[in-house]
Parts: sequence; C-alpha cells; structure tokens
Amino acid sequence: MVGLQAIKYQRGNLQVLDQLRLPHEFVYDDVFTCEEAFDCIKAMRVRGAPAIAIVAALALAVELEQKKDGASNSQELVKYINSKLDYLMGSRPTAVDLSNAIKLLKSRTQNAASNSTSDEAASCANVRTVFIEVAEKILEDDYTTNLAIGRYGAEYLRRQQRAIVTPVDAEAELRYYTTSPPGTQGLPDRTYRKLSVLTHCNTGSLATSGHGTALGIIRSLHKMNYLDHAYCTETRPYNQGSRLTAFELVYEEIPSTLITDSMAGALFHRKKEEMNISAVIVGADRVARNGDTANKIGTYQLAVLAKAHGIKFVVAAPTTSIDLETESGDSIKIEDRAKNELTQITGAVVGKDGKVDVNHTERVAIADQRINVWNPSFDVTPHDLIDAIITEKGEVVRSSKGTFEFKPIMPERW
Ligand code: MRU
Repeated sequence: MVGLQAIKYQRGNLQVLDQLRLPHEFVYDDVFTCEEAFDCIKAMRVRGAPAIAIVAALALAVELEQKKDGASNSQELVKYINSKLDYLMGSRPTAVDLSNAIKLLKSRTQNAASNSTSDEAASCANVRTVFIEVAEKILEDDYTTNLAIGRYGAEYLRRQQRAIVTPVDAEAELRYYTTSPPGTQGLPDRTYRKLSVLTHCNTGSLATSGHGTALGIIRSLHKMNYLDHAYCTETRPYNQGSRLTAFELVYEEIPSTLITDSMAGALFHRKKEEMNISAVIVGADRVARNGDTANKIGTYQLAVLAKAHGIKFVVAAPTTSIDLETESGDSIKIEDRAKNELTQITGAVVGKDGKVDVNHTERVAIADQRINVWNPSFDVTPHDLIDAIITEKGEVVRSSKGTFEFKPIMPERW
C-alpha cells in the first residue's frame, strides 16, 4: 500500500494520523488501548465510516496482543472482548461499518471459544489469535474493496459519459462508424470529453485504509485518464473537504478546485456544460434497506441540486456500509455534535509573507458564542435522488423480489 495513510499497523502496534492537525501538521499518535481509540474516534482525529471501524477493531487487537494475562478461560475472555466492543460501539453512532465489524468480531471469537479444549491457556490464545486475524483482515479487505469500488465507479461514469456525447463527439462518432470495419464496438475513448465531478466531505485514503471510496473513484478516473477536474466542497461545519480532501487532491496532483458548500448550485448552473460536470460522487455512513443513504451533512442538498441540473448523483460505499436491518432512512440515528464545531474554528497563523506557520495554530471564535446551534453531523438522501450505489461487488440494483443484488460493471470494449 502506498501514498497517504491514516492508519499504520503492524501486529501489536497501531498509529493513527491526527486529522485535526491536517493539512498543516503530519503527526501520528500511538493507540494502545480501546479507551485511546474511543477518544480518537469521538474527537474525530480519525473519522470516515471504514476508518472508524478499522481503528476500533485494531485497537482491541493491539490490547489483546500486548496483554495476554487477562482472562483465565476462553468464555471469560469472550466476555471481556464483548464488553470492550460494546464500549467502542458508543463512540459514534451513525456509521454502520463499526457495528458490522463488531458483529463479525463477536461471532468469530464466540465460535473460537465454543471449540475450546480443556487446555484453557491454549483456548485463550486461540481466541486472541482469531480476534487479531479477523481485525487484520478487516484492514486488508478494506483496501481491496476500495480499489474495486474505484474501478467500478470509473467504468460506470465513463459509460454515462457515452450517453452525453457532445455534438463534436457525435460527429466524430458518425465518422468513426462510417469508416470503421463492421462489428466495431464503439468509439475509442480519446474522442470523448473527459469528465468533471464534485465530491463532498472526505472519503479518501484518510477515511479508509487507503485509496478511498468516492474519492477513490476520482483517483481511479484520474489514473485512467478520464478525469478533467475534481471539485470538492469545504464541508461545513467541520471542513473535512477543505482540510482533508483538498489536501489529498493536491497531494495526488489531481486537477482540482475547492468551493464552499453554498457554491454548488452556481457551479452546476454556470459550469455544467463548460466543465462537463457529469456527477456528484459521495460516500456513505449507512445505506438503509430501501437505498436511503446517510452521509455527511450537506449531501442531501447536493442530491437535490444534482437532480435539478440533470447531473448524476452517485454513492460509493463498501457493502459493509449497507444496513439491511434498517428499513429506511427515517430509522437512522443521526449524531448531533458539539456547538463549538460551528462557532469556532482552528487555523494556523499565516505570516505577512503568506506562509503558514505550522507551529502556531489557534482556536478562534467565528460567531457570537451565545447563539443556539443545531449541528447534525449527517443527513439522509432519499433513494429516489440517487442514480447509483457503487460497491466493491458492482452497482446495487433491486431485484424483482425487492431485495438488493449487485450488478458487476464490466469494462466495455470501446
Ligand atoms: O464525520 P465524518 O468525517 O466521519 O463523516 C464522514 C463521511 O460522511 C463520509 O462520507 C463517510 O463516512 C464515508 S468515508 C469513506
């Protein structure tokens, strides 16, 4: 795995990049205990649905690796593991990845304990090993999952592009078909316009084990040379867009522009044709059974705007973000965050020479501190505003029986 890493892990050792210090400082904190992981997640030093689940799982894996004398038998150890996992579950409530990871870890350790022998020390060691291996697999799987989402998402968007061939391209297409041998599948992609996209919040390497989901699709589009330009929103109030996504886009040298959340409508209105803005791509914290999707506050209004401007609205999410037990978005618990996330901001001092002084960061008030504040961290986008949900298994489609199925998106011959 190369590039930016929010999470660094080797057995017995976990380090988490403090995202509250980005983009000015690059500092990793050691996480040795579940309590440290809980604080790290709650304070949003690490955030993003997959990263939260990974850090919680690995923190307990590190504890179990380092502290081997806690329980006298495997059932006692399972009890201890479950209580730690229940505690971690309370860190942030909206993203389902954490609860899915916890369910998996609980069932796999319980199975291991059920197969215990009379050698209690060996049984405890086995339960520990099973837990650690499952936690490590969650980390590994997330990365391969993201690469698949990136590839599927890029193919999906390129295919949409085909449907909106510009007049210039339409002429080229006609020329191509009339001069190509019979059976030619399509126009070489170089004659199509590259596409531009908008993304919200941060769904990149910083929110996952690497590559990212929605931002992973943008990375893949860029790598495949299909991307013209990526726009990212500031993502008020906690600025995951300006602090983190802008940083990732610059780091990866992807052509990109930062806008405030309130500029999206104007961007779509003024630049849709000029910049060929084809899609809004966002991540998900929880996709309900009917496709309603909880994601960072501000996602819903982007979906409404996209619909009004005929722009595709695409959700990129691993299957671990799908919650089949929640019927619709109405039942998703939305986390409310602290007032000061709206009324204050942390910034680094900029010198007269325009240089950022990384050693001098300050928390400053940007509103009357007495004002009442409503600060929901997420909103729910109804499924009828979503054009596609792209997972590592392909596009989510509804079967005739009303259940989810996954349709792989194979690269077309062009
Ligand atoms: O509050 P955050 O920063 O954890 O919110 C993150 C998001 O809403 C992301 O879009 C979502 O978790 C998907 S991350 C791949």
